[in-house]
Order: sequence, then C-alpha cells, then structure tokens
Amino acid sequence: MIIESKQGEALILHPAVKSNGKKMFIESYGCAMNFSDSEIVASVLVDKGYSTTTDYKEADLILINTCAIRENAEQRVRNRLKEFNILKKKRPSTMVGVMGCMAERLKSKLLEEEKIVDIVVGPDAYRDLPGLIETVEGGQKAVNVLLSRDETYADINPVRLDTNGVTAFISITRGCDNMCAFCVVPFTRGRERSRDPESIIAEAALLFEQGYKEVTLLGQNVDSYKFKVQSSKVKVEGVEEEVEEFVSFANLLEKVALVNPLLRVRFSTSHPKDMTDEVLYTMAKYDNICKYVHLPVQSGSSRVLELMNRGYTREWYLDRIAAIRRIMPECGISTDIISGFCTETEEDHHATLSLMNEVVFDFAYMFSYSERPKTLAERKYKDDVPEEVKTRRLREIMDLQQKNSAVRTKVGLGKVHRVLVERISKKNSEELAGRNSQNGVVVFPKGDFKKGDYVDVLAESCTIATLIGSVVRAKS
Ligand code: 5AD
Ligand code: SF4
Repeated sequence: MIIESKQGEALILHPAVKSNGKKMFIESYGCAMNFSDSEIVASVLVDKGYSTTTDYKEADLILINTCAIRENAEQRVRNRLKEFNILKKKRPSTMVGVMGCMAERLKSKLLEEEKIVDIVVGPDAYRDLPGLIETVEGGQKAVNVLLSRDETYADINPVRLDTNGVTAFISITRGCDNMCAFCVVPFTRGRERSRDPESIIAEAALLFEQGYKEVTLLGQNVDSYKFKVQSSKVKVEGVEEEVEEFVSFANLLEKVALVNPLLRVRFSTSHPKDMTDEVLYTMAKYDNICKYVHLPVQSGSSRVLELMNRGYTREWYLDRIAAIRRIMPECGISTDIISGFCTETEEDHHATLSLMNEVVFDFAYMFSYSERPKTLAERKYKDDVPEEVKTRRLREIMDLQQKNSAVRTKVGLGKVHRVLVERISKKNSEELAGRNSQNGVVVFPKGDFKKGDYVDVLAESCTIATLIGSVVRAKS
C-alpha cells in the first residue's frame, strides 16, 4: 500500500510529561508502514517533551521518514532536503534527521552526500532517537542503523499523526524474509518478526475506546505472521516431545475482529504464495472484517515471476483469486504490477495484460522497474528493458486498469453499501465520503451524519473510482 501525503497535526502532551519547549515536524514518504513508524517516533519524542507542528519552518527538529523502494522515491527526499536547507541556513540550530529505508540503505554515506543532515536513523533504532539528538546537541553528527532480530516496538503506544480520528494503522510484523529479486526492503528493514498478539489486541481495543472505527493491520507479508505463545511437553508413544503453539495470521485476524463488531478490520499486504483459505474463511465469518484483499501479482508471466523469486506461478495466483471469489464473491481485490523487469519480452508483457483481463482488479498500484542496489536482480540480471519500452508498457497497463476500475465500480451500482464516514467530500462540502467494505470510495449528501458514523448508502451513479448515492438507512 503506497500513500503519498504528509503528516502534521497539533498534539497535546501527556500531562505526566514535562514539555521541553521544542517542536518536531515529521514528514513521511512511501508505504503505510512508514506512516505507522512515524507515529512510534512521535511517541518516543513526546515522552521526551517534544510537541508536534505542521509547519517545518517553526520546528526545532525536522524528521523525514524515507522510502528507498524506487530511485525516484529517494530523489524526492533529496529535493525536499534542499528546501529544508534554505531554513537551516537562516536558523542553523534546526536539527534535521533522516529516518526509514533510505537512511538504512545509505547509512553514514548520507551524512557525506547531504550536508544538511544531522541524524541518520534506521527503522529498528527509533528508541535511540533521544540519545542521537543529545549527540547532535553536543556538536556531533549521529548515526544508528543497527537492524534488530526482535524489535517490534510492541510496548510503544503510537501517537496518532495526521489522523481523521476514524481509521488507524497497527503494525503486526516488521521486516521481510522473502527476497523478491527486485526489492530492497529485506535490506532496509531486516529480518521478519511478528509482534505479540496481546499488544496488537490491546492497541486495537484502545483505539476503539478512543472513537476509532477501523484498524488496518500492517506487515510486508501479513500471511507469514506467526507468534509463539506456548510450548508444552507431551508424551508421544512413550517419548517426551516439546509441542509449540503459535498464533497464525488467521487466529490474529479473528482476535482483532472480536474486539468489537463495530470496529472494522483491514489488513495489508497479502502474499499470493502464503495466503491461506483459512484466512479467507475467517474474513467471510466476520461482518466487521472488510471484504478486500490487496494481493500483489507483479507480473502475469510465470517465467518473469520465477526470475523475480516470487514463489508462485500465474496459475497459482489465479487459483488464489478463484479461492477469494469462491469464499467471498463480493470481495474487492487490488494488486501491484511492475512493468519492464529484467528480460521481460512483449509476450511476458501480454501475459500481464491478459491476467489483468482475467482477474479484473478493482484497483492497482503500477510501477516501472527501477533497479535497486544490493538486490538479487541488481547482482545477477541486466536491467535490459529500455526506459521507453518500460514506460510504454506501463502506460498500456495503466490504460487497461483504468477501464477495469470503471467496470468494477459499476458493479456496485444499484446496491446498498455500508459506508464508514471518513471525511467531508473533497469536491463538495455538503457531501461526506467514506469507504465500503470493498475499499471503494462512496460519496453521499451530508444530512445529519458525521465522521465515524456507519451509513447505508444506495449507489445511484459513479465516476471511474467513486460511487455516488443517497442514504437509505443509518446504523451507529
Ligand atoms: N521497482 C519497481 N517497483 C518496485 N516495487 C518494489 N520494488 C520495486 C522496484 N525495484 C513495487 C512492488 C511492490 C510495491 C510495494 O512496490 O510492486 O509490491
Ligand atoms: Fe519486497 Fe517481496 Fe518482501 Fe514485498 S514480499 S517487501 S516485494 S521482498
């Protein structure tokens, strides 16, 4: 899941924490995990007396949470650092920190390349930020990019940033063990680890108490969530054996769904090689688990999927789609697609288009391949698809998706959708906008409704990606 927006929200300090009179500004790029991490960082620093500001020009500490997944994501960060530099020239005491995947990838090299930077901090070192800040206050630059085998920040209660007060992210795993050939994430976020289910459930329950109505469970591959809860000794044919008990993703999903029927549950990202029918049946069993799966395919060609080291074929992927549709016929499905991966031929590209035609995704995030340092593809294959071919193929993929999105949106017409209201509509202040279970946006006249309400809306017309309707019945 990719989010392209900035955070910033005034924040009231916990009464037990003494203000240090300083303000921090945190800006996040990239995936939902980064946005969730920024909320952990805010919590660590609020405990040290910082308050937040939405205006970097008045901040004592500017933190930029970065993405390294494609080269242009890094370029955007470098451009933003140039803007911060104008301020730093005027007010040299402003501290600038780079966190996240680009910090982890470049480590102390970032200090040499970007003179403005005072702190470089990787995704597993956020607890050390107060110490790093002290180092900078002492006149030095500070770096901590150590990756951890067990850090999950389970005990940190995130400070919600840029919140609508209705929906929130909860991290359930960190890192990734998959080693897809194109992906830098295993190098920037380290080994996969799962967070204690009790802390996840407690966080969901607290959010509900605070008025939130929807949580999204986050992990690079949620299906590989696995937490050891117990091991006991049993005798098998006279021999004593140790039996370990684990909480699986399906178990966790069920536990979170049981927090309250009025708390909606979503999750991202599923992996086609690991997504089980058990997860799908759990989704089907609970009304409050949204009927929506984000299942990145990357390519429709089995040959390319093998080179990508994705661990499944086109046929396997289509079988998983068939399982979703069999178990939850009304389920929304979205995907990620990469155009122009190493050696991709026209035939491979057409296999991607034909897969898109077979599945008809509701939505897709589409990218052209960007070679990343250290990855298997960078070490072993040639980035041999010319840029203009990648771009042309991406355009064809996007055009087809545009058509398919329109087809999928139209399926919702004439039906009643339970919508969780998230905000005032961007186009008309007399209208509210929210999402249905399938993650589609629905807009309707405001009436007496407000953010956080569940409203039943009859869809009467639509644009490519938005249903427009009228209220039929409301449920709080
Ligand atoms: N080039 C282009 N797209 C990439 N992604 C990951 N790495 C790369 C890369 N090197 C895409 C994948 C992934 C999504 C988060 O980003 O589609 O699912
Ligand atoms: Fe990257 Fe693959 Fe892990 Fe996703 S599953 S983060 S694409 S290595």
